[in-house]
Amino acid sequence: MDSEKAKADNILIIHGPNLNLLGVREPELYGATTLEDINRNLSKLTENTAFRLDFFQSNAESALIERIQQTMKDGTNFIIINPAAYTHTSIAMRDAIAAVKLPFIEVHLSNIYSRESFRQRSYFSDLAIGVISGLGAKGYELALKYAMTS
Ligand code: DQA
Repeated sequence: MDSEKAKADNILIIHGPNLNLLGVREPELYGATTLEDINRNLSKLTENTAFRLDFFQSNAESALIERIQQTMKDGTNFIIINPAAYTHTSIAMRDAIAAVKLPFIEVHLSNIYSRESFRQRSYFSDLAIGVISGLGAKGYELALKYAMTS
């Protein structure tokens, strides 16, 4: 089993600002699924496997940067991140994710390319393995499935 095991076995899921309000926040854009539901569903996908998931949500840029930096010593080898509004503003978070040199997938619930022009630029996409945008909560699931088979 071990020889077949993918390398991305310690996966960190990072949720940026306001995603703690999922379910009540603009459900027409972000859906009715809560962050807890999303995380629970992801955990289910790794049940009875060797994959370990860690979840982190913060509304603070500095806390998000510190969590990204921590991956340099906590054994994380893959990141799934929805930087939320920091997608469009945070050079500091971009620098952190570039510094740790881990493969990552950028996820957005909504299709940022079909929204306001300020959302159509991401400081993360060119560094990401891939970007999933507009598939709602399912985007996290697809990202995790990719990580588990990469
Ligand atoms: C988002 C899109 C961002 O533009 C927005 O600021 C968010 C959520 C998404 O998941 O669709 O907070 O990242």
